[in-house]
Amino acid sequence: MKLLLVGFGVVGQGFAQILRDKSAELQRKFNFSAEIIGVATANKGALYRADGLNIPALLEAADRGSFADYPDEPGLKRAKTAGEMIAAGEADVLVEVSPTDLETAQPALDYCLQALDAGMHLALANKGPVALAYASLKSKARAKGLQWRYEATVMAGTPTMRLAEEALAGCKIRSARGILNGTTNYILTRMENGMSYEAALAQAQQLGYAEADPSGDVEGWDAAGKVLILANAILGVPLAMADLDVSGITAISEADIAEAKAAGERYKLIASATPDGGAVKATRLPLADPLASVGGSTNAITFETDLLGDITLIGAGAGKLETGCAILADLLAINRVTGQA
Ligand code: HSE
Repeated sequence: MKLLLVGFGVVGQGFAQILRDKSAELQRKFNFSAEIIGVATANKGALYRADGLNIPALLEAADRGSFADYPDEPGLKRAKTAGEMIAAGEADVLVEVSPTDLETAQPALDYCLQALDAGMHLALANKGPVALAYASLKSKARAKGLQWRYEATVMAGTPTMRLAEEALAGCKIRSARGILNGTTNYILTRMENGMSYEAALAQAQQLGYAEADPSGDVEGWDAAGKVLILANAILGVPLAMADLDVSGITAISEADIAEAKAAGERYKLIASATPDGGAVKATRLPLADPLASVGGSTNAITFETDLLGDITLIGAGAGKLETGCAILADLLAINRVTGQA
């Protein structure tokens, strides 16, 4: 399977690391092998080689912050744009792991549409296109007979989309509610243990949980993007940002957290989606509420279903390998469906 990566930050590098470390196991278990033939980034440069890039060298160059020192190899091209890489038509899958833009979804959305037109499947960690252009991507992928997958967009590699879309396929999912942002849950947990907001945010950034612009996390927009993905993809309701009531954790002070703690409660940033709308709101929960015990960067979601009652999933919500593994799961699913590789 030949892959083009747009973006090579925390998630792209996590995914490349997994490919590097698991290639023999993936080949043996699934007859799956993948090559990264192109990587286009906004700040490290670009690399393209139709016969495949050297993944360890790619990771080492990314560690140094630039592809400039990536070793020359026959056929290597350093100046292609993402659009040119897609237009070359040599890749099977576009892996969109560039930073999320929840106002325009661009430039990722145009790359995704171009890739579908060029006959490529999609695997996205970028939430923008799925949250803002679900219907158009779905109809184009369907018209072209191509797969588009986005497990990484909600709760990292914790199989949220797969649980809802595949395991619960026979159920009607009436609503979804949970903790869907790792950064804010990490900050709230650390603040409850006495750390300042600023120090906790800095740690969340260092650990690779936060978005490139962390205001999207702390003001609730990242969780709101996930609410839109759940509403569109799982509830079948075409909600848009304007339908949501969104606030974050920036107004919660250390004193508020101490006061909640003294009262046997805990603040959590709760995200919810129903057919009528959605919300993201810092909420004081009693400690007996199962969501109150979900700490650190861990996320949780409860699906309310018609046949099974409530189903709750708890697991990683952010992180390098945690999100990279969702991209791998999507590629293995594409591989199963298409019988490729
Ligand atoms: N910034 C996001 C979070 C990454 O903290 O949850 C995972 O979507």
